Amino acid sequence: MAIRKIITVGDDVLNKKCREVDAVDEKVISLLNDLRDTLKEANGVGLAAPQVGILKRIAVIDLPEEGGFFELINPSVIEFGGSQTDSEGCLSFPGQYGEVERPIYVKVKTLTREGKWVMLEGERLFARAVFHEIDHLDGKMFMRLVKKWVDEEE
Ligand code: CO
Repeated sequence: MAIRKIITVGDDVLNKKCREVDAVDEKVISLLNDLRDTLKEANGVGLAAPQVGILKRIAVIDLPEEGGFFELINPSVIEFGGSQTDSEGCLSFPGQYGEVERPIYVKVKTLTREGKWVMLEGERLFARAVFHEIDHLDGKMFMRLVKKWVDEEE
């Protein structure tokens, strides 16, 4: 387990599309553990593998008030709906928050660290985080969606 360095905007690795994970092996487990440690250390909501320089379709989400800690491996959105507009930020763009519209509901299919496919379902912050993290895996940053920049969150 280790804290990894979070890559910030300006590095081209953040604009690259990530590859699917072929097998959930020791390297993947180790990366998941590092992503968790790095996210907790940074006090963030989500962190994707490309943000630590690894172009694999892996991300973690930490939402203690909405069910806990989630790991995404090869995630794909199965269903989504509605809309929410709220302030959003990113550990790769520190201190900057903007209003972004996202679906308010998502159902996502993902591999677990045990290598099993499961469905995760949630609303609001969970849905926002899932779309934000999957965007990272496709090399897309939230800035492109910002309608209005806002002052730093309370
Ligand atoms: Co981000």
